[in-house]
Amino acid sequence: MVQTGKGTRTNNQDGVRETITVTDNRTGREYELDITDGTVRARDFRQLKAYEGDFGLMVYDPGFANTASCRSAITHINGEQGILEYRGYPIEELAQRSSFLETAYLLIHGDLPGAGALEAWTEEIRMHTYLHESMKQMMEAFQYDAHPMGMFVGSVAAMSTFYRDAKNVNDPQSRHDQTIRLIAKVPTIAAFSYRHNLGKPYVYPDNDLSYVGNFLSMLWKMSEPQYKPNPTLEKAIDVLFILHADHEQNCSTNAMRSVGSSEVDPYSATAAAAAALYGPLHGGANEAVIRMLTEIGDKSRVPQFVKHVKSGEGLLWGFGHRIYKSYDPRAAIIKRTADEVFEMTGPNPLLEIALELERIALEDEYFIERKLYPNVDFYSGIIYQALGFPVDIFPVLFAIPRTVGWLAQWREMIEDPEQKIARPRQVFVGPERRAYVPIERR
Ligand code: ACO
Repeated sequence: MVQTGKGTRTNNQDGVRETITVTDNRTGREYELDITDGTVRARDFRQLKAYEGDFGLMVYDPGFANTASCRSAITHINGEQGILEYRGYPIEELAQRSSFLETAYLLIHGDLPGAGALEAWTEEIRMHTYLHESMKQMMEAFQYDAHPMGMFVGSVAAMSTFYRDAKNVNDPQSRHDQTIRLIAKVPTIAAFSYRHNLGKPYVYPDNDLSYVGNFLSMLWKMSEPQYKPNPTLEKAIDVLFILHADHEQNCSTNAMRSVGSSEVDPYSATAAAAAALYGPLHGGANEAVIRMLTEIGDKSRVPQFVKHVKSGEGLLWGFGHRIYKSYDPRAAIIKRTADEVFEMTGPNPLLEIALELERIALEDEYFIERKLYPNVDFYSGIIYQALGFPVDIFPVLFAIPRTVGWLAQWREMIEDPEQKIARPRQVFVGPERRAYVPIERR
């Protein structure tokens, strides 16, 4: 028997050994591997060698479907039970009782702030909402119809050229400064991208307004002296921001950690994370939901569309999730928020189609068997559309709050002594070494 780890076997409270014994049938050798927090160390498998000089066994896991890449104390999800918690607080309670900036403090610092700490945090963010004028000029140079998310990704990356101290990622003060700058400035970048697309002049931040109120002002203010945000709308966006703030190791967060693990500055890493979010399988899904609902066009055509999805000819956008195998708790809160928004704006005709789609899908064997339920994106797009946002801006609306989650995860990664530069292995399936053929003989 070969042992791994520190050689000290611990028993759990029931006296059961927290190990697994693996027999390598190629050699007949047995190995006892430690189990810690329900995981085995992939590295422990390297000692399983078929012959002298063998590299050792690796684990193969495309898409990291069953691989924990870090230890994290930020967000907990129980996908079977539909539970989402930030630092131990249920998402439902945060959405109901906290503000987005309070939730941001919680994610970044680990605890809910007291009144004084919240005021200081809010004030610090408020003081950093303006962009450097050269940033603004740079954004003006984008093509007139540039996709706002492309502008967002490019502009966040460009921020690293303005804050040269950002590369000092091992300096806690620098990490704090970039955290504040990013949280404060992403709404400004997002709003400028939106106005650019419409050919409207950029609106500078109004620091007398709330975080969301200021964002709405930068989006929609015209010639009035001060923009007055509608409180229902302001609250709805604040709730949506809370729901989107973090979601543990999703595709974009993994990009943030992976790129950040090279110790590049956080603007470059955040731009990489935002680029990951841009894809339709991730943050672009709510845009795809609206296009899908528009294409269906009428409630009566839903059964035909579901048949089409079941025959493998397309996806039911906004359904399914790698982690949630029951109702996404964020989708349930969004559905309730939608009711409040529609009371103000009047019903969105796409809602009727969405509700019918959900009803039929949740009764259908195909979706039941695969545990496919509505995810956060199924209803968020419908709300955004009712609020007057064009679909192109949807992923940007997602990126603003998720920047907080990316930063919390990045800071945790930098402070974790176990983390190393992300560098996965591969299973090489290409040709063996072969003789070079000169071009005239190919
Ligand atoms: N519509 C129809 N079938 C689906 C859907 C869907 N939306 N999602 C999954 N399936 C099917 C797959 O075809 C597969 O079927 P099979 O077993 O017969 O091959 C099975 O369900 C399992 O799906 P996978 O793709 O293996 O699941 P995975 O965990 O890799 O993918 C994902 C998760 C990407 C979210 C997927 O469900 C999907 O593409 N959904 C639509 C896009 C979407 O809404 N994305 C937003 C996710 S939430 C977020 O990022 C904020």
